[in-house]
Amino acid sequence: MPRTILATSALPYANGPIHLGHLVEYIQTDIWTRFQRLRGHETYYVCAEDTHGTPIMLKARSEGISPEQLIQRIEVEHRRDFSDFHIAFDNYHSTHSEENRYFSETIYQRLLEKGHIEKRTITQAFDPVENMFLPDRFIRGTCPKCGAADQNGDSCESCGATYSPTDIKDPVSVISGASPVEKESEHFFVRLSDFEEMLKNWTGSGRLQPEVRNKLNEWFDTGLQDWDISRDAPYFGFEIPDAPGKYFYVWLDAPIGYMASFKNLCQKKGLDFDTFWSTDSEVELYHFVGKDILYFHTLFWPAMLQGGNFRTPTAVFTHGFLTINGQKMSKSRGTFITARDYLEHLDPDYLRYYFAAKLNNRVEDLDFHLDDFVTRVNSDLIGKIVNIASRCAGFINKRFKGQLSASVVNPELFDQFTAAHNTICDAYENREFSRAVREIMAWADSANQYINQAQPWVVAKEKDKEDELQAICSLGLNLFRILMIWLAPIVPGLAARSAEFLQCPIGTGTPLVSVSQPLISHQIGPFKRLMDRIEPSKAAAIMENLKVTDTTQDGENAPGHLSDEPIADQISISDFGKIDLRVALVKNAETVEGADKLIKLTLDLGEEIREVFAGIKNAYDPEQLIGRKVVMVANLAPRKMRFGVSNGMVLAASGKNDIGGVFVLSPDDGAEPGMPVR
Ligand code: MSP
Ligand code: ZN
Repeated sequence: MPRTILATSALPYANGPIHLGHLVEYIQTDIWTRFQRLRGHETYYVCAEDTHGTPIMLKARSEGISPEQLIQRIEVEHRRDFSDFHIAFDNYHSTHSEENRYFSETIYQRLLEKGHIEKRTITQAFDPVENMFLPDRFIRGTCPKCGAADQNGDSCESCGATYSPTDIKDPVSVISGASPVEKESEHFFVRLSDFEEMLKNWTGSGRLQPEVRNKLNEWFDTGLQDWDISRDAPYFGFEIPDAPGKYFYVWLDAPIGYMASFKNLCQKKGLDFDTFWSTDSEVELYHFVGKDILYFHTLFWPAMLQGGNFRTPTAVFTHGFLTINGQKMSKSRGTFITARDYLEHLDPDYLRYYFAAKLNNRVEDLDFHLDDFVTRVNSDLIGKIVNIASRCAGFINKRFKGQLSASVVNPELFDQFTAAHNTICDAYENREFSRAVREIMAWADSANQYINQAQPWVVAKEKDKEDELQAICSLGLNLFRILMIWLAPIVPGLAARSAEFLQCPIGTGTPLVSVSQPLISHQIGPFKRLMDRIEPSKAAAIMENLKVTDTTQDGENAPGHLSDEPIADQISISDFGKIDLRVALVKNAETVEGADKLIKLTLDLGEEIREVFAGIKNAYDPEQLIGRKVVMVANLAPRKMRFGVSNGMVLAASGKNDIGGVFVLSPDDGAEPGMPVR
């Protein structure tokens, strides 16, 4: 029965680079949707940028650009990373789009009409300097339990206590450093308990992995809390209709981004949106998500869909988290590897294979272990798979002009292979990729054993055994073809090169249906290198590339820290000598129209006057700076900004995203403008 399938991966936040952790999800979904397509099912895989929320607004501000500029730049980077990893989205869109505004408003209106939304005034921490309400993660202070200083707004890293941000002692806003005050504001809540019956039915019917269902039952037992879907200005997002100054919380419009991206695809492809999203839809809808965002996808999202008169998901597939060499991914541990760091040194198929070899359908964490990665890929992909082709291709090309035999010499062996087909397809279907890989590699072992026993290199030396030689190598290549058809969803690059070499479809069309038909009297192409071994030194290089200045990874889910950036790689004194640091006197300082974050400085360098834009407005009034001596990078290439050209840089200390404040460096009294600093 042909099926119609719509699958999604979670939308990456548009404020930081794609890293190997994210790729666990995108690669997993890509493998599964490729498998479904190769099997002949009508399959769509959509995704989008998740563009709204406070962290994105603040990051843009700290860069002196608009949120729109930030999300555009990040989208370009994300798209490139995904495409270079062979992630074959049918559509990639953005939550900052008209389609998404439309569906967000529609769902909200329908929830409102049905009485599921309640307005209530609540008291929250408010930053009196920044004039904004503070999300919990932007408040730090002293732990009320153990007295440890500088702890998160909701939990203590020292004693492990969790508490409400209103209980923390000596709280400070990590944005301005001011102590927050309490302030009232009206918020909009979705009464989740209205959906309890519906959610219990939905979760109870085989849509979730058992461990996820258990988690949900815990949540049901504690009782479903109302969900606050509004945020006050300043906020980057969609303003709520008829509620000026109130915005939809990013997590309201983020999952709706799945619909928006699909709607956008419908417009491009002429597909019928309602067939996929109406309450009576027969299309299968699957969401692949990480375990950290379960609550949103298994409670809020189905409730919103139901309340909005749309169909609910067929299933949510949850995966665990990636660790690197057994450690949590983190910049300070040196275990934060971006997609780009990886791609600068290695073929994406290596990682796709390694993840597939480790992924199952449970919510287990998985580890990227560098040495294991190199060994596994080299011994499996190169040593077992590619090896079969390279052992047989030469004889066929040189001795038989690329022509395969007219029959299969060992039909029993060939039939054993094709008999394994259903088991392997079942493993894929159930997202047990590690099982699929294990099976495929066991069959690769059988193929290699066959060649070892048949010894084509010995047969080749005997005069009247031409037919036998051709038959052995033809069977070898036919077995290679089957193995590659099975592996194609995992290693699309290798599959494409193999298809070109064998001159038959492997990773395109519907080859999974035609595994049992061998290539007979078939003309193959010339043999090119299909894949190189991983050089251990190149693999090690992906860990050395860590971008220490990249402070962008914190999304809405992850708390930030003030100073967990590692010390950068060692440099020589001559490297340092390239930087010309000078004392400069601030002659003038003024704010910049339209830039939240920037101050324009006129600097006296002794011999010359420079204009420099500095992102320090959150921390200083321009007047405070006039007459002060600072340290500047005098030989920095001029940088064009929206508001003019910046000719240098003033040194200042700051935490991630400038959280925790900005501190301009100054020399002691007596230093003269123009004096070198070293
Ligand atoms: N923007 C939200 C998702 C909105 S979906 C409507 C978000 N973005 S994220 O960029 O933080 O994460 C995107 C996906 O990557 C999530 O499913 C998340 O669980 C997953 N991962 C992020 N880090 C990960 C690991 N270290 N390991 C495995 N998956 C990880 O959440
Ligand atoms: Zn504590």
